[in-house]
Amino acid sequence: MARWKAWDRFIDKFPLISSSRLGQYKTGHLPIPPASLRLRVGEASKHIYMITGERVFRRLRNQLKKYLKLEDCQTILDWGCGCGRLIRNFPEIVPVSGLHGCDIDPDAITWLKSHFPEMSFETVAPYPPTPYQDNQFDLIYGISVFTHLTEDTQFLWLEELKRISKKGGIVAVTVHGETTTDPSLAEPLSESGIADREGDRWMFFKHFLDDGYYRLTKHRKDYVIEKWSNYFEILDFVEKGIGRQDLVIMRNSLK
Ligand SMILES: C[S@@+](CC[C@H](N)C(=O)[O-])C[C@H]1O[C@@H](n2cnc3c(N)ncnc32)[C@H](O)[C@@H]1O
Repeated sequence: MARWKAWDRFIDKFPLISSSRLGQYKTGHLPIPPASLRLRVGEASKHIYMITGERVFRRLRNQLKKYLKLEDCQTILDWGCGCGRLIRNFPEIVPVSGLHGCDIDPDAITWLKSHFPEMSFETVAPYPPTPYQDNQFDLIYGISVFTHLTEDTQFLWLEELKRISKKGGIVAVTVHGETTTDPSLAEPLSESGIADREGDRWMFFKHFLDDGYYRLTKHRKDYVIEKWSNYFEILDFVEKGIGRQDLVIMRNSLK
């Protein structure tokens, strides 16, 4: 983090949005992470960080309505929470005591622990297990996490999400489907149903991850339905359900 301090000071000295305009966002009064952490989740500008956080939260909430009442969830996990773009919106609906976030990025988790102490955050290892108990969560959501994993790592995490979600619980995650294009991945995607290359933001994760961990991964819908059905009952595959990414809604109902 220390190496980014000067950069953070520089970027946030010339914000694209003045602090008074942050009032237009529901969570504009809450702490906002520094630019270097925002950039790791894709949004260096405060304005875009806040807008996309609210928009994705609203879309996720709408898509989930058919399958569960968020208000009834006692335990929710934001898997791959980054610096909290989504989870900061949840106290509007559910008690903070049931809100958990985890990420492999220790800097983001350190920031969240000190700025949102009423929620629970954990740094997790790049490979399971996590410290969570079996059957712990009513809802687990993961926005743009499977979009960064290799096929083998993906299977390990599907197994872990199954272990820590409650029986009957919902797991909702995004993938880059065929609706987002990347010419370099088009051919392998059509052959195998999944394809990856080095992730664009790899440089931000180099200091704590093995070479080759952080990918840019695309999934075909039929691949997800076939392979992920070994872990979960697939309830829905909503193309562009969360904006540019597709949303996969699953229930932990298999043996
Ligand atoms: C594109 S960012 C999205 C962050 C957050 N979900 C959001 O929408 O703002 C991807 C996040 O996934 C995290 N990540 C990658 N692999 C992970 C894993 N195996 N377990 C937990 N987090 C992971 C990264 O550190 C990063 O914070």
